[in-house]
Order: sequence, then structure tokens, then C-alpha cells
Amino acid sequence: MKLPNYYEDPNTLHVGTCENRSYYIPYGQDLNSHATLLSGDWRFGYYPYPEAVPADFINPDFDDSSMDTIPVPSCWQCHGYDYHQYTNVNYPIPFDPPYVPKENASGAYRTTFTLSAEAAKQRNFLYFEGVDSCFYVWVNGKFVGYSQVSHSSSEFEISSFVNEGTNTLAVLVLKWCDGTYLEDQDKLRMSGIFRDVLLLTRPKSFVRDYTVRTFLKDGGAGVVRVSVEADGEISPVLTLCDADKNPVGEAVLADGVYEFTVLNAKLWTAETPYLYTLTISTADEVITQAVGIREVYIKDGVVYVNGQNLKFRGTNRHDSDPVTGYTISKEQAIRDLTLMKQFNFNAIRTSHYPNAPWFTELCDRYGFYVIAESDIEMHGYLSTYHSDRENTLGLLDEGGVFTEAVLDRVQRNVIRDKNHPSVLIWSLGNEAGFGYAYQNAGRWTKEYDPTRLTHYESSTWDHSNRFDKSMLDLYSRMYATTEEVDSYFAEEGPKKPFIQCEFVHAMGNGPGDIEDYYQQIMKYDGFCGGFVWEWCDHAVNQGIAENGKTMYGYGGDFGEYPHDGNFCMDGLVYPDRTPHTGVYEWKNVVRPVRARLVDAHKVTLALKNMLDFTDMADAITLSYECKADGELLCSGEIAVPSTAPHTESEVTIPVTLPKTAADCYLKLTYLTKTAHELVPAGHEVGFDQFLLSGSAVRRLNTVTDEATAPTVTEGDRFLTVSGEEFTYQYDTFTGIFSSLERGGETISMDYSIFRAPTDNDRNIREEWERANYHHSQTRTYTTEYAIDGQTVQITSTVNLCAVTVQSIMKFTVIWTIDGAGTITCKIDAKRNTDMPYLPRFGVELTLPKSWQQVSYLGYGPQECYIDKHHLAWFDAFESTVEDMHEDYIKPQENGNHYHCRKASVGNGTNGVTAYAATSFDFSVSNYSDYELAVKKHNYELEESDFVTMHLDYKNSGVGSNSCGPQLLPQYQMNDKEFEWEYQLKF
Ligand code: GAL
Ligand code: MG
Repeated sequence: MKLPNYYEDPNTLHVGTCENRSYYIPYGQDLNSHATLLSGDWRFGYYPYPEAVPADFINPDFDDSSMDTIPVPSCWQCHGYDYHQYTNVNYPIPFDPPYVPKENASGAYRTTFTLSAEAAKQRNFLYFEGVDSCFYVWVNGKFVGYSQVSHSSSEFEISSFVNEGTNTLAVLVLKWCDGTYLEDQDKLRMSGIFRDVLLLTRPKSFVRDYTVRTFLKDGGAGVVRVSVEADGEISPVLTLCDADKNPVGEAVLADGVYEFTVLNAKLWTAETPYLYTLTISTADEVITQAVGIREVYIKDGVVYVNGQNLKFRGTNRHDSDPVTGYTISKEQAIRDLTLMKQFNFNAIRTSHYPNAPWFTELCDRYGFYVIAESDIEMHGYLSTYHSDRENTLGLLDEGGVFTEAVLDRVQRNVIRDKNHPSVLIWSLGNEAGFGYAYQNAGRWTKEYDPTRLTHYESSTWDHSNRFDKSMLDLYSRMYATTEEVDSYFAEEGPKKPFIQCEFVHAMGNGPGDIEDYYQQIMKYDGFCGGFVWEWCDHAVNQGIAENGKTMYGYGGDFGEYPHDGNFCMDGLVYPDRTPHTGVYEWKNVVRPVRARLVDAHKVTLALKNMLDFTDMADAITLSYECKADGELLCSGEIAVPSTAPHTESEVTIPVTLPKTAADCYLKLTYLTKTAHELVPAGHEVGFDQFLLSGSAVRRLNTVTDEATAPTVTEGDRFLTVSGEEFTYQYDTFTGIFSSLERGGETISMDYSIFRAPTDNDRNIREEWERANYHHSQTRTYTTEYAIDGQTVQITSTVNLCAVTVQSIMKFTVIWTIDGAGTITCKIDAKRNTDMPYLPRFGVELTLPKSWQQVSYLGYGPQECYIDKHHLAWFDAFESTVEDMHEDYIKPQENGNHYHCRKASVGNGTNGVTAYAATSFDFSVSNYSDYELAVKKHNYELEESDFVTMHLDYKNSGVGSNSCGPQLLPQYQMNDKEFEWEYQLKF
């Protein structure tokens, strides 16, 4: 069919649409809804380009019986049409704004709705909550209008198009339009009517829009101001009720604004989401609106909500589901919000577009602070030839092509969601540079709504000094390093509050830098918090593999070009919302109570209430447990003293410490005291653990058997060390045991510096590969042995090296073997500091496959690393090799246990136990490191016919360098010189 070409015309953004308004559903005085949901199965035809669509599909008499059906709302890629594509920065189409490819996939939708005689005489509207990317609408064969801006509402008045009885609605959706250039968010690219469609039947005159604003007065009163805009003649009556449905105050009308004064107002916060209900009533309609009384403002560079300096503990959230794509039901959204509450989040950034119009309603109700973001991202400009970050995007809107579009998108976001207490911050968009269009849109926002804060990260890329940015309240950054944060606050002079709208990039195994950032957030009043990138992994469920695993597809799995691989899987939860270990790390870092050991002898602790509005005693119950090397000494509950937000109080725990060298740890566990709608009472919100006593170094007794020393036989290469029950082959070329045989089972050993790169290793990996770490080997310079009484001692000097490159490390290793076959290993090493830091340094043991039982004394039970261990605690744990594996969709290093004193792997009869003089990192897996490194999907992983056990002097931290800063030096295996001692008993 031939269409008016609005979709390549940035001057025609909408045709026939109603003026923007806040989102609400009107009811009749009989309390019947005036909205009918048109969602359901619609007729659907998929065409390669609009010209191929039959022109008469819009007509009521068109025979649509041979068309397919598709559910509305949905994305057509999720129903077998077109193909999936994942791209991050790169535009999926040639860069030729405002033009888009001629082959522009087109979806023709048809449905019908019926109107009673009475309804047909009233005023009727169609309300589309979200259509990607643009759409044309016809009712009964007549053209109604056109709209774009995928994640915003478009409303059309269809009063003059409808009749009593059956009416035909036809919608043509195009995959690309000029708006595509403004919707280059990092996501799977999907199309269609992906949110609900409503039919509204309203009286001749009605409330068109209203704006609610709240203020606080000294003395605890809250002020609720409501302005009402009418279509036609109305005399609205406004009432405000509390949560128990009792009216509070009377509306006073002055200068066209209704004002309620609520004495002793109960204030809305994320912790206390108290809502009043506003009712706007006209002759024929009732509109209700939840009202939260609260105030947000900045004073001296600090963000305050209701007079309290608070921190955003936030996450970025996309609408994303492995089956339904962009289409998210309330149940799916509530599932996310439930997890967020349970994992101690208090804030959400709707990256990078408005969510469904009811989403902020849920945030009002459950208590989340929201950065509401406009549907804009033009990141792809950076991938064009001759581009640079500072200028390319800024220049773009100087040309004026998208100036109107930017303003339109910002207005649609602000006006739709303006009545929600949860929204504290308006975001102008994401990664689209800064220029006149943004200056303009920013000014409009601040003038339209001075009661909220404004934010736009791209403003901080532009250093031209050509634009006014005074309307932006926050200094917004993403992935700023801890150093950059420090220097921002070290600079003299007044400054805007600092916010990390994205940080701790949660891709794969990580993030490892949450605690470091949180320390800064706590340190600087002006650092108002951050938002983790991001909430969920984006992927497409492609069915179940033979081994029973879900086959999640990511970039490149759909044969598409271009694509950005697995960069879409960078969330805190898997696509099905199973939590990643990283979200446990977050949860405990931002726990609502932080304890400090004041006196280890008296076991006195200071408990700090990290909540912003709730007394600690009202929110938390506390239990404790004291263990010596994992053996319970005592446990109990302690009454939580009344403690105001942000203050401390002391408690003393009744513990009598034994005189032992064992590690005595005290663990405090914090539980919710009362139930919240999404969190039951007794839910664990975090814990603290303290070492009360113990000795850092444990002497490893090299003689565990008083019997005679083993014998040694010299071969041309190997030393055979034998005892009554064992035969060990020591390789004098490599400086380690090539085989350890006992009871018919054989183990082998090797030095190990390689790990299956994590997503966060993606940059350093290149250095590691250049240094040939993945081909490392050892050779000895010298080997000597001696038999001294009860033991054999072998000493080698060793060079750890790889072909082509220089030495990585040199060390002396002393092995002591006693009559029982116990091996004690002592290493004294010097690393070549010209080489990059190591993934790890330690030994790898290849164990019989039947050894599947694991126990360890160290940090667990979840995987943990030197920089990601706040989710774990020190204890004695038992597990299985299978359970020690964390099944990342894109396989990688996983399952490490930080700071272990002891670890055993066996089958109940045979096994090995490792002891550390100080500690080691420990992991064990049914998959080889090589397998984890090369396989692209978890469902392709094949188990090896042995078990791989790692004991490391140090396994490097995981950080968040997939997008965040480099791994901090203190978490790298970068030691210049070190000693390490451990023992293996069989
Ligand atoms: C940011 C961007 C996000 C996401 C992230 C990388 O630059 O704002 O949308 O792409 O990088 O995962
Ligand atoms: Mg981007």
C-alpha cells in the first residue's frame, strides 16, 4: 500500500493524536471502567515492506480469514516473524537519517470492537501504550492518525469514525522509522504492538488532564496541590482520603488550583510508601489517583527527600523477558520488584525509556524511587566513520533535524508520569550527546516541573562550554572510577550532587567493586548513590537442549548482522530471574544495618542504622552465631536497640571465647521484623561477620606419620617416591608431581596461572594472551632431594614461562613427603613485574571423576573472590562438585571460594584434603578450564572424565571491567614476591 511518508519525516512525529496527558483510567459514577482493553488475538499479516501490504486490509469488508493471528500485545519476533537482532551501540541500519531501509518489515494488524448505541454517541478514544517503531491507524477504513516514540503512549480521538455495533480497527506497524535513530538503546531489537491498547468511552465533557504536586510545611503538614484541565464544561469535585479511606482536609480553590492541607501528614518514602487517594469527580466520571506526600530537593550539593539525606541504591531496568520480549505483564513487573525489594534496592532507573504506564504506579505502591527516562538514545552516532564522543552527538542536534523529536520524547515521558510520587528524577535520555536540542528540552522540563530533579549523563561528555546546563540538577556519570569520584569531591567550590546512573557492570561473574563504591557513597554526603547496570540478562529462550538446559540465545545466535555477542547478558539476574551471585553481593553490601567491632574481647559492636526513615528497632531483628573453625560455640538473639536512621548504638554479645588457635568468627544476621507487601517478616536482609580470635598462620606439621620415610628411586627424568600405600612420580623437568598413585587411583598435578576468562576479563585477556599465559609451562633449573629421618624433601628451582615470551615467574619449591604420603609444599616466588598481572597462581589437581563430595573451611557457600566476598561468610561448608558450578549462560571462570583454610574432595572412601598455612582460593569443577573458555553456551558444555581442583595462592578478583574500570591493583594477582605453603593429605 502507498502510505504518506511520515516515517522518514522528522517534522511529522504524530498525526491525529491527542495532546499529551498523565496516565489515568476514568470510571463512571457507577464505578464501571470507561476503558475497554482491546488486547487479545488480532489478525496479523507480516510483509517485507509497506508497499507489499494489501491496500484494502484497512477496510471493514476485507476478508481477513486467511491472515495469521498474533496476540496483542506482543513482539512479532517472539512469534516466529522476522528475526531477532541484538546490537548495543551500532545502528542496525545504514546511517542515513532520517531515511530508513526500503525493506522495512511491516506488520498489518486487524481487530474489531463493538459499541452500544449509547457508547457510539459519546466520545471515544484509542490509547496505545507502546508500539515499536511507528504506526498508522484506521478505523472503519478511514485514516485516524500516525504516531511514533515506541515506549510512549499515543492517544487518538475516534469519535467521528465509529458507529454503533461492530467497528474495524486496522493498524500498520513499521519496523524502522526516523525515530529509530533516537531509539538506539542497547537491547534486542523487536517490533510490534508490544503494550496494551485501550478503548476509552468518555462523556462529552471530562477531565482531560490534572497535575498533582506535594509540598511539606513546617510542623508536619503536607500540602497537596491539584490543577485540573477540562475538555468542555465540568465542575470537578476533589476529595483526598487517607489509606483508611477517611477524608483528610477540604480542597480550597485559589487561582485555579485546588489545595489540600493535610495535618500530621504521613509522608511517602521508598521505606514507607504511604499513599493517600485523590478523587476527581465530575457529573459522569470519577478518576482516582494515588498521592504520596513527599518533597525532594538539593541543599548545598546534597539530595534530600523529606529533609533526609538519602542514597539511591538503585538498578537500571529494561523491559525484557526471554519469551515475551518487550511485552511485560504486571505479574512479570511485580516479580522484578519483589526481587529488588528482597535484595535491598530502593531505586530504579527506567533505562532507557518509559516503562508501561502502570509501572510507576507499582513503584508508588511498593516503594521505589524512580529516575524516569525519556525514550532517547543515539549512541550509534559514535560508530559512524569519523566520529568522536564529545562532538558527534552534540553536533547532531545543532542541525536541528531532531530538535523537535527530542523535546517531544522528553515531554511524553514527563507528562505521562508526572503524578507519581515515586518519580524523583527526570532523565532526559541516554547517550545522545548534548547540544541545543537538549538545552531546550532540559529547560522545558525544569520549567514544567520544578518539583523534581533533572539528570542527563551525556551532558557531562560535552566540555565545549557552549551550552547552558544549569537546569540539570545532578552531576551524572556512568562507570566513573573510584579515583574520579575522589577527585570530583577533592575539587574546591560548590558542586552538584554526584550520581552514578550506571555502575558496577554486572556482566557474567562479577561485579567485584560494589563495596568500594559503596564506601565512597557512604563517605561523601554529596554522592547520592548509584544504579547497577543492569537488572536482568537479555536473551531469547530458544527451547530446551537435550541435556535439559534452556537454550538462551544472544547476539549472533540469530544469524544477524551486526550484533554485539553476549553484551546483552549483563544483568544481576538470569533471563528467568534466577539471581546471579552478583546480586547477593549487592544485597549484603547495601544491607540496612552495618556493624562495627568496637571491642573484640567484650564482643561489643556498634550497629549503624543504614535506613533513611525507619528506626532500626522497628525494622530489624538480630540473631548471632559464634563458631570456631565452623563448629558452633553459641548462638542466640539480641534485642535491637532503638536507633534513629543514620545513627549507631552499641550491643554486647554474650560470647565466651575458647582458648584455641581455631578461627572464632561471630556472625550477625539481620532479618525483617515486619512484613512488607513484597517481603515477608523474617526475611534475611544481610549479615556481618567478625573474626574474634584465631591465629593467622597455622603451622603445618610435615610429619603426620611417625613411620619411616618413603623411598626414592631416581629415573632419567622422574623421581619415584614410594611408601607403603603410594607411589608418586616427581617430574624433575617441571618441578611438580606428574602422578600421585594410591589405592588404584591416580591424581595428577600442575602449576596453574590460566583461568577461563570472565566477561570482565575481556580487556585484560588481550594482555594475557599477548603474554602467552594460556600456554605457560614450567621448567626446573635444579632439583635436589634428601631423606631426612621421617620425610623426603625435594627442592627445585623453577622458571614459569611460555614460548615466545620472557619468564613470568621464578620460584623455589620445597616438597616434603612423609611416610603416610602427606605432601607439604612451600613456594618462595618472584614474579616478573614487566608482565601483566596473572589470572591466578596456584596448582591444579586432576582428580578421579568419582570424587564428587566436597567440604571446605572458608568463604561460601556461594562463589566468592577477593573483591566479591561480601555475599559469603567464613564457615565449614559441604557441597558437591556439581553444586559448586555457577552455570553462566556464556561459560567462564566460576565457583571460586575465597580465603579457605582447608578443602576436601573425595568419594567417601578416598579423597584429598588440602590445608593452608595461611589461606588459598579453592574451586572444583566437572568442567576443564579449557572447556569453560571455549564454549559459547552453557548447554554446550561437556563434562570432563575427571574433576579439576584448583588451589591458588591467589585468584585475581573479578571487578566489572566488561564496561567498568580496570580491576583495582589490590585485587590483582600482581604480587612481586610471595611465599605460600599448603599441604595435601590423602
Ligand atoms: C552504557 C549504556 C547502557 C549499556 C552499558 C553497557 O554505556 O548506557 O545502555 O549499553 O553501557 O552494558
Ligand atoms: Mg548505549
